[in-house]
Amino acid sequence: MQKRTHYCGELNEKHAGSRVFVYGWVQRRRDHGGLIFVDLRDRTGIVQVVFNPALHEESHEAARQLRNEYVIGVEGLVEKRPQGMENPSIPTGRIEILAEKLIILNEAETPPFPIEEGITASEDLRLTYRYLDLRRPPLRNNFILRHKVYQIVRNFLSDRGFIEVETPFLTKSTPEGARDYLVPSRIQPGKFYALPQSPQLFKQLLMIAGFDKYFQIVKCFRDEDLRADRQPEFTQIDIETSFMEREELFRITEDLMKALFEPLRNIQLTTPFPTLSYQEAMDRYGSDKPDLRFGMELVDVSDIAQRTEFRVFTEALATGGQVKGLNVKGQAAFSRKDLDLLTELVKGCGAKGLVWMKITENEVQSPALKYFSEEVVSALRDRFKAEPQDLLLLVADKPKVVATALSNLRLHLGRKLNLIDSQAFKFLWVTNFPLFEYNEEERRFEAMHHPFTAPVDEDIPLLETDPAKVRAKAYDLVLNGQEIGGGSTRIHRTDLQKRVFELLNIKEEEAMKKFGFLLQALKYGAPPHGGIALGLDRIVMNLTGSESIRDVIAFPKTQKAVCLMTDAPSFVDKKQLDELRIQVKI
Ligand code: AMO
Repeated sequence: MQKRTHYCGELNEKHAGSRVFVYGWVQRRRDHGGLIFVDLRDRTGIVQVVFNPALHEESHEAARQLRNEYVIGVEGLVEKRPQGMENPSIPTGRIEILAEKLIILNEAETPPFPIEEGITASEDLRLTYRYLDLRRPPLRNNFILRHKVYQIVRNFLSDRGFIEVETPFLTKSTPEGARDYLVPSRIQPGKFYALPQSPQLFKQLLMIAGFDKYFQIVKCFRDEDLRADRQPEFTQIDIETSFMEREELFRITEDLMKALFEPLRNIQLTTPFPTLSYQEAMDRYGSDKPDLRFGMELVDVSDIAQRTEFRVFTEALATGGQVKGLNVKGQAAFSRKDLDLLTELVKGCGAKGLVWMKITENEVQSPALKYFSEEVVSALRDRFKAEPQDLLLLVADKPKVVATALSNLRLHLGRKLNLIDSQAFKFLWVTNFPLFEYNEEERRFEAMHHPFTAPVDEDIPLLETDPAKVRAKAYDLVLNGQEIGGGSTRIHRTDLQKRVFELLNIKEEEAMKKFGFLLQALKYGAPPHGGIALGLDRIVMNLTGSESIRDVIAFPKTQKAVCLMTDAPSFVDKKQLDELRIQVKI
């Protein structure tokens, strides 16, 4: 192969007069009265190549065969384009290459969709031909940026004394709350490895091993329902530290975010990030990952609702419920149809309905007005700080339903009314999550984070008396309403770990079977430790402004966990199954 002298996108006026050799793909060929123009593309951009029959007849003749996506090498002289012929829409638009030699390295069939920016091809088609889709600049640029993220993260953490250690993929189940991907063992018939949902237990063991500050950019595997920001295999920036206060870990994480967002998005982040307790986040936003790019906080009016004769309110309150609402500023003009759609939205979240109140100059309109005394109406107006033209939306139900309904309604209205500044990056820490979550179906407590999370010291006495009230030393990092990281201080003492297992109804025998190796290790001088895992894909989504996690993963799966390009998962030969002693029942 002739040696490449430049990438296409690198060339500019400074190269005028030099002889260059470039490789790439034909973006477009145009014949213009004798001259042939070819837009040549490589991973850095596009440059125009001109074939002139008067100067180089042979290469001009060869250029006539060129079609889109042919792979070629071109040698030629860089020239400034004649005045008036510049193309300001591409960075190399002031120059062109006057071709002297053309080498056709490969032909190409017509691609199933054009290799260019705004295309209308379906995502399924693009995923089937992912390697072609990755040629398109918007996708390609996401991966160039993702590459920079790896480099910045590695340098940043290494400079701060963190050591990168790999942990196994063929391992035992980790309790992160999703289903495991299992891998059958041939050598140990009937036994299975689990692909790690995270390196959680290994990073704790590395602390016990004395590594003190660990990190890893690592794939994690979770068999769970997929969404726009969830993939079955995804990447974490996994971090664990010993002998470090939570606040120091927060500052390191914030500095890492600065190291990424400031150069890659060209913005200043203000640190430290604000912190909300889980309870405060739920009270004010109905969500443990609130989007702080706009206001419209939830307002609790349960005490006022108590003073009405309105059964929707009083019945909800009598059964331990709440009445809360939103003030949608200046939207009293919402039509009946708009309000019906909002009602459908909250019903979809499990609420029984939506009560609306329109505040106008002289009156208040609401289907529930007949149940409200003047005193109640005035108290509601005060509590919501309502002004003329405001729209109040109220939901009465169990706290969980109220939170889900109103947080979704808030987000919906934030988007619909354009209240969200798309250029803003609002980070926050959410801390002190509950340690346990009650599983109504199975009638038992479950760990909200994972069972190695330490309880808040002052809540330890409540472990046996009021477990629902115990707060965890767990935290999430939230960005623009998305959870981009989560972690905790761990339990490092065997006695406390045993108490937590007892509460979770994990019997000693079961605990030993599942994570005996960790319990054993805790006995040999486990240091106080804690850490965090950051969702690298989600961070890249935010850096690139991508709507879908699939746009930042080179070879992603569909919502149905299928790879359309390779057709994985697929059936395997009977011979392979026999070796594994597996029988498939469908
Ligand atoms: P957690 O389960 O909160 O914590 O995961 C950490 C972060 O990983 C990202 N994430 C995902 N990204 C894409 N697709 C998924 N399916 C997916 N699941 C999670 C999120 C999340 O905040 N071992 C603990 C961390 C610790 O305690 O140190 C853990 O894995 O951004």
